[in-house]
Amino acid sequence: MKTRKIKDGISWLGAVDWDRRLFDALIPLPDGTTYNAYLVEGSEKVALLDTVDPPMAEHLLAQLEDVDKIDYIISHHAEQDHSGSIGHVLEKYPQAKVVVTPKARGMLMDHLGIAEEAFITVEDGEVLSLGNRTLKFLHTPWVHWPETMVTYLEEDRILFSCDFFGSHIATSDLFLTDEGRVYEAAKRYFAEIMMPFRSFIVKNLAKLEPYEISMIAPSHGQIYQQPAFIMDAWKEWASGQPKNLVVLPYVSMHGSTQLMVDYLVQALVENGVRVEPFNLTVTDIGKLAIALVDAGTIVVGTPTVLAGPHPVAAYGTFLANALRPGARYVSIIGSYGWGGKTVETLAGMIPNLKAEVLEPVLCKGKPGKDTYEALDELARTIAARHREGGFE
Ligand code: FEO
Repeated sequence: MKTRKIKDGISWLGAVDWDRRLFDALIPLPDGTTYNAYLVEGSEKVALLDTVDPPMAEHLLAQLEDVDKIDYIISHHAEQDHSGSIGHVLEKYPQAKVVVTPKARGMLMDHLGIAEEAFITVEDGEVLSLGNRTLKFLHTPWVHWPETMVTYLEEDRILFSCDFFGSHIATSDLFLTDEGRVYEAAKRYFAEIMMPFRSFIVKNLAKLEPYEISMIAPSHGQIYQQPAFIMDAWKEWASGQPKNLVVLPYVSMHGSTQLMVDYLVQALVENGVRVEPFNLTVTDIGKLAIALVDAGTIVVGTPTVLAGPHPVAAYGTFLANALRPGARYVSIIGSYGWGGKTVETLAGMIPNLKAEVLEPVLCKGKPGKDTYEALDELARTIAARHREGGFE
């Protein structure tokens, strides 16, 4: 795709990755993604903000063909989907300086082998003049790595936010057009890479409060001309306020755990609790992550196999623990053949969850009357806890 003008002297460059389906060899990208870079031309200096994932470098270099000079390469974030093509850009513009936070300098030297003398480091709040335009750098640690920063273009009131407010979505529309589609893509993105850093997100959102922002230009997904849409969404997601929702990742081998899951789903509905079951053998892990943003309670359903939880359930549990959702309650349900340590093993896998463990429901073989009564009790307990917590 060719360079696209945002306004006089400010352009989108980058690549639309229509086919990408996995990020970090983990995260499903059903809608592809974009790597957005931006060219900001001042009366005296020219800055390129971020680059693209290395396999897409040729797109960026083609867009730079008619650009005679770049004085600064602003690298907001050392992750290679934004920084990975800096070396190519430096080959074309060897006089350019790479502008980074002090932490990012070392990371870019480690990851990309960029020479130390190529860098200028900037402190939090420092400004860089391009002549008639001024870049102000705000450090935003843990959005998404510890070295991250954003740039506020003062005269145009544009926030170049890199991963902050991003979404994995490939589209030919430069600006947001379909709010529903982008809301889900942005929530998936938040859930998968930002939820573990919620407390930092809250601080960094507060840090942006004093700034009048007329446009947010992230380095993934579309540009927001109405910043409140995405800023309000992030405020809600980062708040960690659980909703009246049970998220139920599960796996069943011979149908007994499935019977328990089906029964619990119905019992929760009858008790006024929303529930989202995820059969881990077929589910999109990103959908599970989205649901975890709002979960009041997580119930893991697993049979006992090889004396412990099913490995697929263990994977789902490990992932949930890593994402650090704000759920206040957890429990376990499932069937076993002759014994094992399923509860102990799973309970030991969730140290990051600040959640109360509700009495698990395990049964030997096929569930019977006692098991169904125990599931009714679990549903009543969850409903009561959610009511007491004011989960809506
Ligand atoms: Fe889009 Fe953390 O990189």
